[in-house]
Amino acid sequence: MITDTHAHLDVKQFKPDFDAVIKRAREAGVGIIINIGPSINSSKAALQITDSKIKMYSSIGLHPEYVPLVDPDKSIPLKIKALEKIYLANPQKVVGVGECGLDYFKRDGQITGEEIIAQKALFQAQINLAKKLNLPLIIHCRDAWEDIFDFDFSGVTAILHSFTGSKEIAQKALDLGFYLSFSCIITYPKNEALREIIKSIPLEKVLTETDCPFLPPQTQRGQRNEPANVSEVVKTIAEIKDLTFDQVAEITLNNAKTLFNLP
Ligand code: NI
Repeated sequence: MITDTHAHLDVKQFKPDFDAVIKRAREAGVGIIINIGPSINSSKAALQITDSKIKMYSSIGLHPEYVPLVDPDKSIPLKIKALEKIYLANPQKVVGVGECGLDYFKRDGQITGEEIIAQKALFQAQINLAKKLNLPLIIHCRDAWEDIFDFDFSGVTAILHSFTGSKEIAQKALDLGFYLSFSCIITYPKNEALREIIKSIPLEKVLTETDCPFLPPQTQRGQRNEPANVSEVVKTIAEIKDLTFDQVAEITLNNAKTLFNLP
């Protein structure tokens, strides 16, 4: 059984052929999918996704992309309250807070100081929520590694999702007790450095994910990604670690169960 700890199955890209996507996931051996809520609406929508064979869980969170820039001091607490309400109504199905974090990447121009301050406030509020609800924190970090470790993560377990950082960042994260989650981008030829990191870190701290519909594996570049492709992540990690597919599948499944406190 393999595990996709980070999927976005509620998005419109999956509407036309959702059943076929799930069928392929089952056939690939996917046993658990965690649907990640990057917004309040998708945090709600993720809860509606069910399957008779695959165990579906979800998270509640606000991606830095959705940071409120108008009156953040007032609107952030309201949004956090809305997330908490979703959790309180569904405590068995909601297993994490996120994805949240910092994202300083801008396609055009540069991020403003004002936006950075708001992103940090939104992230801090979700760290506090994770502590309060005793849920793991799913962290998204893009072009913001210099700031991510300034936060106080004591009392919270966290995952760096679709890890793309350096060896030093991986070590910092492991020192904090974090898990590193790897997506299909570890199959891209240019990502030798990421494969080197996987080689050097304990498998007990590794999770597998797709971040679908984004980040397809090398064999499907430019196409929509889907949970079945988490098999590519498991396969690649097995090759790197010189283990069997089943060994990596079992250990990463157990890691997900431990971290997300799954039955
Ligand atoms: Ni994501």
